[in-house]
Amino acid sequence: MQKILVTGGLGFIGSHTVVELQESGYEVVIIDNLSNSQIFVLDRIAEITGKKPEFHQIDLRNKEDVQQFFKSQKIDGVIHFAASKAVGESVKEPLKYYENNISTLVYVLKEMTENNVNHFIFSSSCTVYGQADELPITEKAPMKIAESPYGNTKQIGEEVLKETTSVSDLNGIALRYFNPIGAHSSAKIGELPIGVPQNLIPYITQTAIGIREELSVFGDDYDTEDGTAIRDYIHVVDLAKAHIKALERLIKSSNKEKFEVFNIGTGTGNSVLEIVKAFEKVTNQKLAYKIVERRAGDITAAFADTTLAEKELGWKADLSLEDCLLSAWNWEKAIRK
Ligand code: UFG
Repeated sequence: MQKILVTGGLGFIGSHTVVELQESGYEVVIIDNLSNSQIFVLDRIAEITGKKPEFHQIDLRNKEDVQQFFKSQKIDGVIHFAASKAVGESVKEPLKYYENNISTLVYVLKEMTENNVNHFIFSSSCTVYGQADELPITEKAPMKIAESPYGNTKQIGEEVLKETTSVSDLNGIALRYFNPIGAHSSAKIGELPIGVPQNLIPYITQTAIGIREELSVFGDDYDTEDGTAIRDYIHVVDLAKAHIKALERLIKSSNKEKFEVFNIGTGTGNSVLEIVKAFEKVTNQKLAYKIVERRAGDITAAFADTTLAEKELGWKADLSLEDCLLSAWNWEKAIRK
């Protein structure tokens, strides 16, 4: 049985990926510092899969702890989610982002190369493209100057990984996520935003359940059909499955380059108002919203060309926007009980 280290394995995407890994027959060891996740998620993973993964509460900024961990373990591959992800916060605290997202990556890669652990999957983001000149966005689209320190850490992270693979036995895949939403169909795990949600879907579900008064739609004067911004919303379970495919590719040595990147999205763009309407339809209730100013740093439209992932990873998103919104809503209801 292959043993996979999942850093940030109790977070939103991490926890769903741990479930898929265990259900695909992998043994999982999680490292998480619980800075933006909850320990109960470990039991929830066990409830879903019938197996509690090994867990280490380690902060990857502590280099010695990372060294110690790799010395004491026999690991076959690493899926690295642990990172900070709030765009706005990154503008205010850039050094926190460079430390949490870059220093930790360096420590993990260093231990991997020294301990002969050669498969690495990196959480990247469509944010590396900025506002792309052409839609849908292919992996060949150039990176634009990052809009935020957070975005910059994803660009730099990819470079650090690429350069490391070029001089070591390490093979790496960066998955550029579009907008991950939804929750596991069991409603046992999902997104757990701290404080006021910054992202659209948790804001919508919290409004619908009565925690927030109304959704603010950021701008209706974009150059899109209804004037609101367009994103490619992908179900977190589909996204989790893409990690299994990427890992298998490395384990089977079917990768064509030592460092590869894949867009992980659905290929379809939806506007904010389309999301609001789809949510109302799926949940059969009205959502209070108002149009406000654009949010600084937001782009007009982004959606993926997923041809490469389909061809090379044999992966394609299965779940619909309705599945996404209904599962997010069921999760919101489950955590408020
Ligand atoms: N939006 C609203 N109201 C809200 C929240 C969001 O109208 O209360 C709009 C945004 O303006 C945007 C869309 O909903 O048009 C999606 O916003 P999110 O914050 O959910 O997602 P983003 O596309 O801004 O950000 C996501 C990830 C980031 C990543 C970025 C890359 O959350 O981590 O994609 O583009 F960097």
